[in-house]
Amino acid sequence: MDKLIIEGGVPLTGSIEISGSKNAALPVLFASILLSEPVRLRNVPNLRDIHTTLKLLNMLGCACEYQKGQLTIRPGCLLPEAPYDLVRTMRASVLCLGPLLARIGHARVALPGGCAIGARPVDQHLKGLELMGARFKLEKGYILGHCRKLHGARVTFDMPTVGGTENLLMAAALAEGETFLENAAREPEVMDLVNFLIACGARIEGQGTSRIHITGVKALRGVEYTVMPDRIEAGTFLVAAGITGGELLLRQCPVNELESVILKLRDMGMIVSEVPGGALAKCAGPLRCVDVTTNPYPGFPTDMQAQVMALMCLAAGAGAVEESVFENRFMHVPELVRMGGSIRISGHTAMVRGVRRLTGAPVMASDLRGAAALVLAGLAAGGITEVSRVYHLDRGYESIEDKLAAVGARIRREKE
Ligand code: EPZ
Repeated sequence: MDKLIIEGGVPLTGSIEISGSKNAALPVLFASILLSEPVRLRNVPNLRDIHTTLKLLNMLGCACEYQKGQLTIRPGCLLPEAPYDLVRTMRASVLCLGPLLARIGHARVALPGGCAIGARPVDQHLKGLELMGARFKLEKGYILGHCRKLHGARVTFDMPTVGGTENLLMAAALAEGETFLENAAREPEVMDLVNFLIACGARIEGQGTSRIHITGVKALRGVEYTVMPDRIEAGTFLVAAGITGGELLLRQCPVNELESVILKLRDMGMIVSEVPGGALAKCAGPLRCVDVTTNPYPGFPTDMQAQVMALMCLAAGAGAVEESVFENRFMHVPELVRMGGSIRISGHTAMVRGVRRLTGAPVMASDLRGAAALVLAGLAAGGITEVSRVYHLDRGYESIEDKLAAVGARIRREKE
């Protein structure tokens, strides 16, 4: 296992290129199961979750070739099984369910189970697919699904689930007739999947709204497609500029998709401006704490909650951070407290009181965005911070230590 050693206190300055989005690339990769022609994708980030997905796609019968962000997927004769060993390392594997049912009428996919940030059930995915004609049973920890031919349906989600909307979009693209998804997720990554499916010949209307209308087609065609830039990686680097008192130019920063984050950072006192091809972020003076509540898009993203909390640790005053999407996404709190942060948790809310300085300490990452928050805190802290279990970070940040080192951070990777 690797760890990151960070010597904090250097204001970061320079420019960083934002990579392709993990959470947009993953559903697009699974959508390739729907096609019988090759797909060529650009801007696919070189990340652990992407390689896990490629492994799974290979097992399902899709030959994948990945080189420097370019990916070719050649779907072949499909097999229905997504084994537990892969699914447990990456919950997004459940996104093969809809495409497999649409293409071959059966699937055997390990039930993902809980994870560090919460129980994360998939009941909404199954409910929707059942309304489209699929039948499921649970056997030895696997979801066994089958159907004759999926048909259109009206599906109202209990909550705007990102993965549920994506699974149903893919299934509906090849189903017979019309599907209406109500209370659908509006995250930009869902829209990227819709754009990909439309490019392949799918008939989808209402994208960007919570009511999506899909008319099934008989087949989809192979295309070339460029995955959108990663708004959460970009948001993390915006915070890196603020927490170190530096100035960063983020190339390919998806400014519109980050609006709620940028508005919060401006409320805290940061200057974030749109410039041609990206965004420029810096601090004009001391930052102040604000209140933040996570919400589905266009609300403040849960995937930026931990990073903004790290920033608030060093801002003036006090602020409340409420997590309303996942039930257990505060694992970074005790680690930030070990670095000198003043945070108190009460139910789904963390009360942060800014302190003058954080001090480096050995800390342990327990999820992807929490790991990012610890790296950010380490960049600002006095002394040395050692972040262990960096494999969490490697799931979602491409070459993070290289990108940070290139703008002045003193950061290196070591084997534990
Ligand atoms: C996606 O997860 C992202 N993952 C997450 O990114 C992100 O935090 C999350 O959306 C919310 O934006 C990928 O895109 C691969 P949900 P997903 O279904 O699809 C409940 C990261 O750090 N729910 O929108 O799993 C669920 O428990 C991560 O990159 C049900 O109850 O999230 C949660 O409380 C982690 N039943 C809420 O809905 C269901 O059937 C939102 O989950 C589905 C979801």
